[in-house]
Amino acid sequence: MSTITQVPMLHAQSLQRDPRIAAAKSLILQAVQEHQSAIVSVRPPRPELESESQRILDEFGALRGGALFYPYLSSGLGNGPFVELIDGSVKLDFITGIGVHGYGHSHPEIVAAGIDAAISDTVMQGNLQQDVASYEFSKMLVSLARESGSAIEHCFISSSGAMANENALKLAFQKNYPADRVIAFEHCFAGRTLVLSQLTDKAAYRQGLPPTIEVDYVPFFDQTDPAGSTRRAVERLREHLHRYPGRHANLWLEMIQGEGGYHVGDRDFFRQLCEIAREHGLAVIVDEVQSFGRTTRPFAFQHFELDDLVDIVTIGKISQACATLFTAAYKPKPGLISQTFTGSTWSIVAGQRIIQNLVDRGNFGPDGHNVRLHRHFAAGLEEIAQRRPGTIQGPYGLGGMVVFTPFDGSADKAKDLTMRMFHAGLMSFVAGANPTRVRFLMPLACTTFDHIDLALQIIDQCLADVQAET
Ligand SMILES: Cc1ncc(COP(=O)(O)O)c(C=O)c1O
Repeated sequence: MSTITQVPMLHAQSLQRDPRIAAAKSLILQAVQEHQSAIVSVRPPRPELESESQRILDEFGALRGGALFYPYLSSGLGNGPFVELIDGSVKLDFITGIGVHGYGHSHPEIVAAGIDAAISDTVMQGNLQQDVASYEFSKMLVSLARESGSAIEHCFISSSGAMANENALKLAFQKNYPADRVIAFEHCFAGRTLVLSQLTDKAAYRQGLPPTIEVDYVPFFDQTDPAGSTRRAVERLREHLHRYPGRHANLWLEMIQGEGGYHVGDRDFFRQLCEIAREHGLAVIVDEVQSFGRTTRPFAFQHFELDDLVDIVTIGKISQACATLFTAAYKPKPGLISQTFTGSTWSIVAGQRIIQNLVDRGNFGPDGHNVRLHRHFAAGLEEIAQRRPGTIQGPYGLGGMVVFTPFDGSADKAKDLTMRMFHAGLMSFVAGANPTRVRFLMPLACTTFDHIDLALQIIDQCLADVQAET
C-alpha cells in the first residue's frame, strides 16, 4: 500500500508510519499470539458448550436454508493449521475452506495485513475507486505469470472464482464472436453461476436451471493409459471442431480436476489439445481457481509448461482475491467487465502477501515445500494402505492437493470417513464420484511434517474404527 513515494509524504503514508500504529499493531499481535498459544493440537468439544453450539448451528442452518456440511462455526481464533470452534473443540484444518486459508488461522502476518487494511480508507475495492493495493496485487500476478515466457499482460481482480471465470468467458466470447460454444473436460467444475453450472459437468449442479451456453466435452487424461487417453481426447476435440466449425470460442482447461476428484493431467496431453485449439482460433483458458499456488510453480500452467499456449488464466482461493489474467489479444472492449466489488481491501493485501511469501519461502520448485509436504503426506498414506489392505487406494494428487479413495470408493463410505475424521479432529472433504475420494488442501504456508503426522494418526485411527465395525 505504500509504493508511491512523494515529497511531501502523503497523509496516508504518515499514518502508516505513525509510531502509534506500529505500537498498536505490535500490541494486537502480542495479544493474538498469547491467546492462540494454547491452541496447539486437536481437542474434543467442551461438554458445557455443546448444546448452545448445536442450537446456533441448527438456527444458522435454518437461516441459510440448509444445514452446513460440517457442524463447524469457528470461534474466530486459531493457530496455524489449528482452529477453535464454538463448541470449544480444536480441529486440524487440512481443507482450509477448500483451499482458501493458505496461512491457516490467525497467522500473525495475516492479522498484520488485516490491520494495515483496516486503516485504509475503504472496506472494499472496486470499479471507480481502488487503492495502491489493487495495483500491487495485479502487478505481482502479471509478473509471476510472465516468469517463464507467457504473453499474459493484464489482470482484472474479482470477488470470487466464479466471477473470474465469468469474466474469462466474456473475454473469449467477445474476441471470438460469433462463436458461442465452449469445449471443456468431462467432470470439470467451474463454479456456480447460471453459465458456469452448464459448463460444470455435473447434472445435479444444474438441476432445474435453464440452459445458457452449449458445452462440448472431451475426456480427461487417464494416468493408467496416457497414450490412449490422449488419443481419445484429441479425436473427440477434432470431432467437436468438425461438427460445429467456427462455433467454439475457447478450450476450457481445469488441469487438476478439483471437485472431479483430483485427477492430474499431463504436459503432452495438454499441449496437444491446446495446439489444436489454437490452430482453430479458440482461446485457451486455464481455470486455476483451486490449483493456483499448489503445484511446483505459482501457476499450474507453468508447472505443465504451457506458457506459450495460454491466453486467459483465472485464479482464486489461496490468493484471497480472485483474478482473470489475459494476453493483449483478449483485452475487452470498454464496458464488458467491471465490478462494484473486486475484493475487500484485506483480501487484496493478504492475497499479495500470501503469494509473495509462498514464493520467498520456497514453496515452489521441483523440490520446493509444496512437493515435500506432498511427499511426506503421500508416504504416510502409502504406509497405511499397506498396513491396512482394502482401506485406501492411492494416494493421488499433486503438490498441495492430496487425495485418496477410501474403501470401495462409494460416496457413503467417503462421506462417513470425512465425518469420523472431523469428529476426531481432522478436516478434509470429499471429491469426485465413482469413485468418491477424500481430499486435503493443507495450509501451505504453515503446515509442518508434525502436522501431517498428526493427520495421518487420525486417518489411521478412523480407518481402524471402520474396519473394526465391519
Ligand atoms: C476449479 C474451480 N473453478 C471455479 C471455482 C469457483 O470458485 P468460487 O467458489 O470462488 O466461485 C472453484 C471452486 O471450488 C473451483 O474449484
